[in-house]
Amino acid sequence: MTNNTQNDTQEIYKRLNGRNMIAIASGKGGVGKTWLTITLAHAFAQAGQKVLLVDGDLGLANVDIQLGLNALYDLSGVLNGKIPMNKAVVYDENIGCDVLAGHTGSQAMTGLSEGQLQLLRDDLYMLAPHYDYVFIDLGTGISKSMSLLAGYSGTVLIMCTDEPTSLSDAYTFIKILSEQPQTPKMRIVVNFANTQKEGERTFQTLSKACQNFLNIDLVLGGILHQDSAVKECIKSQMPLLTSYPNTIIAKDVSDLAKQLMQDK
Ligand SMILES: Nc1ncnc2c1ncn2[C@@H]1O[C@H](COP(=O)(O)OP(=O)(O)OP(=O)(O)O)[C@@H](O)[C@H]1O
Ligand SMILES: [Mg+2]
Repeated sequence: MTNNTQNDTQEIYKRLNGRNMIAIASGKGGVGKTWLTITLAHAFAQAGQKVLLVDGDLGLANVDIQLGLNALYDLSGVLNGKIPMNKAVVYDENIGCDVLAGHTGSQAMTGLSEGQLQLLRDDLYMLAPHYDYVFIDLGTGISKSMSLLAGYSGTVLIMCTDEPTSLSDAYTFIKILSEQPQTPKMRIVVNFANTQKEGERTFQTLSKACQNFLNIDLVLGGILHQDSAVKECIKSQMPLLTSYPNTIIAKDVSDLAKQLMQDK
């Protein structure tokens, strides 16, 4: 087998069975999942990758709000059988990605049965091979839907901050994920760090707990600094990498994106 054929085979394998799906999770809310998912998807698209961005926050979807996107269809239409998943996708030219919007404003998506969740996952599996990467913004909490979508992704980014509640929720999420039949690659992302050192200390705290009590060696994905540019870009519904490309936080996300692209 030539090197090229070998690479093609690896690429096809990665795209099948959700291996090219990257889910962003946290346990605790408000730690920056939605904003990071959008910005990472944008960074991958800028690097020439074909990307699908999925709003997997089934209760309080807000990817479309942060993007200022008016999607005609969303995941509720897919689950109601009104529209196939591939037809519910819209292209967002601001970030250069396809987007599958979530649904908000009703409880319809919060109490999905296991069967409905499996259908959702199977639809995603069918769609994922059409893309280089699929990013999923997961909701807050540690529900069945979260662990199902996360557990079947190739990689899960687990976001945390230095707050004890955030660390404790991230730890619980990692524990649940490690008990799934098919454990994805886990990468820790520390957000709201004041300095690189502080971020590394936060990672060490979580890492030691997981080593001692779960026997898991965590891998650091990246450290993201606290930066007012994040709030500004969300307020103006403009992508960070377009409106604030020279900030420290834009560099943090670009570094994380580069690392994930090499993360075979
Ligand atoms: N690195 C950062 N620096 C400054 N502010 C940040 C940073 N990351 C996130 N934020 C702020 O945190 C808030 C929450 O961000 P976001 O909505 O992306 O979090 P989330 O985890 O998706 O929340 P939810 O659990 O509600 O879905 C936003 O107001 C954003 O401005
Ligand atoms: Mg969110």
